[in-house]
Amino acid sequence: MSGTKKRVFIKTFGCQMNVYDSAQMATLLGTEGYDEVGEAENADLVVLNTCHIREKAAEKVYSDLGRLRQIKEARAKDGKTTQIAVAGCVAQAEGAEIRRRAPVVDYVVGPQSYQRLPQMLRGEEDPLATDFAVDDKFERLAKKRAANGPTAFVTVQEGCDKFCSFCVVPYTRGAEHSRSAQEISTEVRTLVRYGVREVTLLGQNVNAWAAPGLDGGKDWGLGELIAHLAQIEGLARIRYTTSHPRDMDDGLIAAHRDIDVLMPYLHLPVQSGSDGVLKAMNRGHTMDMYYRLIDNIRAARPDIALSGDFIVGYPGESDADFEDTLKAVRDIGYASAYSFKYSRRPGTPGAKRDDQIPEDVKADRLSALQDLLVSQQIAFNESLIGKTLPVLFDKKGRHEGQICGRSPYLQSVYVQGPLHLIGTLVDVKITSAGRNALSGHLVSEAMSPA
Ligand code: 5AD
Ligand code: SF4
Repeated sequence: MSGTKKRVFIKTFGCQMNVYDSAQMATLLGTEGYDEVGEAENADLVVLNTCHIREKAAEKVYSDLGRLRQIKEARAKDGKTTQIAVAGCVAQAEGAEIRRRAPVVDYVVGPQSYQRLPQMLRGEEDPLATDFAVDDKFERLAKKRAANGPTAFVTVQEGCDKFCSFCVVPYTRGAEHSRSAQEISTEVRTLVRYGVREVTLLGQNVNAWAAPGLDGGKDWGLGELIAHLAQIEGLARIRYTTSHPRDMDDGLIAAHRDIDVLMPYLHLPVQSGSDGVLKAMNRGHTMDMYYRLIDNIRAARPDIALSGDFIVGYPGESDADFEDTLKAVRDIGYASAYSFKYSRRPGTPGAKRDDQIPEDVKADRLSALQDLLVSQQIAFNESLIGKTLPVLFDKKGRHEGQICGRSPYLQSVYVQGPLHLIGTLVDVKITSAGRNALSGHLVSEAMSPA
């Protein structure tokens, strides 16, 4: 290598798994002499870490590639080369097709193969890698990832075997795989040593995590893993996402009752409130099962903030089915939620159905559902006015003198306060609430343990 510093720009689309993978790629490329920069114009290497979950997300990648082609040509006129890599789930799903459609792309690397990027860049490996090399992915990566601020993601589980009939994840991310408890424990300890106070355990099906325990006994589930991590001194908060109702076992529910560093927030997608649609979606649970789960979780942790994902307009969804979804949302009450129009994904069973719902019907249903979900979110946020909440500050706010952090319920909280509080937990009295954030004032600077 020449020894001169090179620059990489990494753009991340989609889910938290991609945010984590991008951080890992940045670390990996750092060891190859690349500094991360904030825009493509200055970069010798551009990595698009892509998402394939809905059509819009995938198409965005191609429009970005069009722009990158212009940048590459402009830089070439100044004698500079620009290499372009497409990583993530579009890479996995479309493989070589990407380079046919966008010849500007130099490398295509799936989510299980990005540890090969350095070798690819040196010309030592095929510029297309989309095989599933799950086992050694984490081992081959640099373990000592420097922590960027007080919160960090830690992948504990990857892939999905559930095959919901709308979803590409089982095809792009492969079968369920749990990382070992030892590796996770070591990574979390390292992060805490670097100053991390909160970890979010990540997985497409995070609550399907299962692996031999560290006590030599039977296998652990996610609840036991969390109980183990909760003992790490200096770790103030644990979160996890995303969960499947089928894997929400008693051990994990008990963890919400017993472990105070486990935050009272649960993302538990239901997708639809209609048993018929749930069946068609191959979700493997009924509404009755979901309601019973919610009752148990709320009995264990009454203040838990529930979050969910919803799809409207799955093929065959009737007006009555959609009404069932609205009713379920009214009955359950969500603190926040994500909702989407069904998007036909090639290769999935839903895409093959001939009873697709017209776009305008999907749009109307989505807007009715979102009105309801937004009103619940605002009501939840407003219910906290007057309360004092511990806030973990993690960044500067938008305005002068402002700092921003997260409540236990994952809301952003803004206060006027000194920068040295970033990285600490401080009590905040909440004085106002909007749709997306709370604001308040500092009650004390004393650090609380949780
Ligand atoms: N169309 C619309 N939404 C989808 N999701 C997954 N696949 C699709 C699709 N084909 C949504 C689900 C999932 C979230 C991550 O994305 O709600 O929980
Ligand atoms: Fe997709 Fe269903 Fe697996 Fe979630 S559980 S990743 S929606 S197949």
